[in-house]
Amino acid sequence: MAHASGGREVIVQGRVRVPGDKSVSHRALILAALASGTSRVRQILQSADVQSTAGVLRTLGAVIPDLSADMRLDGRGRESLGAPGTELDCGNSGTTTRLMAGVVAARPVEGCFVGDASLSRRPMQRIAQPLSAMGAQFRFPNGDGLPMVVRGGTLSSVDWCSPVASAQVKSAILLAGTVAGVPVTVREPARSRDHSERMLAAMGASVSVKGTVVHLTPVPRLAPLDLTVPGDPSSAAFMVALAALASGGELEIPDVCLNPTRTGFLDAIRDMGAHVRVERESTQGGEATGTLLARPAALRGTSVGGDRIPAMIDELPLLACVASRAFGTTTITGAAELRGKESDRIATVVANLRSIGAEVEEYPDGMSVSGSDRPLRGMVRTNGDHRIAMAFGVLAALPGNQITLDDQACVAVSYPAFWTDLARVTATGRSARYGS
Ligand code: S3P
Repeated sequence: MAHASGGREVIVQGRVRVPGDKSVSHRALILAALASGTSRVRQILQSADVQSTAGVLRTLGAVIPDLSADMRLDGRGRESLGAPGTELDCGNSGTTTRLMAGVVAARPVEGCFVGDASLSRRPMQRIAQPLSAMGAQFRFPNGDGLPMVVRGGTLSSVDWCSPVASAQVKSAILLAGTVAGVPVTVREPARSRDHSERMLAAMGASVSVKGTVVHLTPVPRLAPLDLTVPGDPSSAAFMVALAALASGGELEIPDVCLNPTRTGFLDAIRDMGAHVRVERESTQGGEATGTLLARPAALRGTSVGGDRIPAMIDELPLLACVASRAFGTTTITGAAELRGKESDRIATVVANLRSIGAEVEEYPDGMSVSGSDRPLRGMVRTNGDHRIAMAFGVLAALPGNQITLDDQACVAVSYPAFWTDLARVTATGRSARYGS
């Protein structure tokens, strides 16, 4: 059922180098600004979200050059950021808001974080609580969300037990500890992505990780970074899904970050029967990398939940879309966090899958999707959410489906060249060749 309907087929071919990892790119800019000396960062993601982090750092006085493929960044030390002259505009980016709140909380300044309508609705108490426990002050003039006014000061150490597995919460606390020069401990219910820990350790901080507990002992001076940002596995996932659902061919996706806290989608789609090989395994900037080779297969339903969710959190809308083309039912549970993303990704995915003709049931913490080979038709409302646009964009590229999106431009948040890459690696035809 993962294949062509209506007599047409789609063949994938060639090589697609996905852009640099978004999580690593945010952290590289922030930590390079806090380092003592000149960092070099190659292949940073040049997208709207990373521009938001660059803009907030500049507003706080950091010298951040225009984003480019090979950047040199002059860091002026962990105490270098000063009072902002204007609001801190985070655009659509939760990572910018939450990580930079950790930095501002540890400086003797006041900053007002603002963002677009989607970001303004997202939960911020989750960082306000631990950072307040350390000694910062928070004000929410409109209730939880943005605007959020952070008044920083002299912080004390914290041992924080987070109710959610969130790398943004963990990183806000680690950055506050780093800038304030106080040790911090973060406990999580499950392991979230660990890029902050890896980068801080590479810069000389003492970071110990035991299971889901992270402890940081800061250092007065962070050494500069020398880093090549690996390809973003969350962007690569769209290409892997496209190849798995195509009728023939193979896609090569080089230099993808294969950090185990990010590879949940690859595990899940392989469980569904996808053919994905990893070649040329290496490390880049302290992160495991490899070339992915993906080709079509007949997919079957699967179940994901529990501790596996954080490693595939951003790929769950895509997994649901893939499930709509697989044999049998796919169940996603334990993913209530999806409701607080760029859109309510449970409600958005369920509503859109239904409106294009797929069978789906909504749960408070996930959904189940029954696959079929019926052509899917209709209009997708993205709610301006980049990952919704790309997930349904993959379904729209499959033969037989007639799907249009209300907003294609929102992919600029994480993968500006997505539509160009998608068109370049797909070819449609009417031949009977059937690849699997
Ligand atoms: C991110 C962490 C995740 C993820 C987001 C990026 C990060 O959010 O969904 O896209 O870079 O730390 P949470 O930490 O809130 O789960």
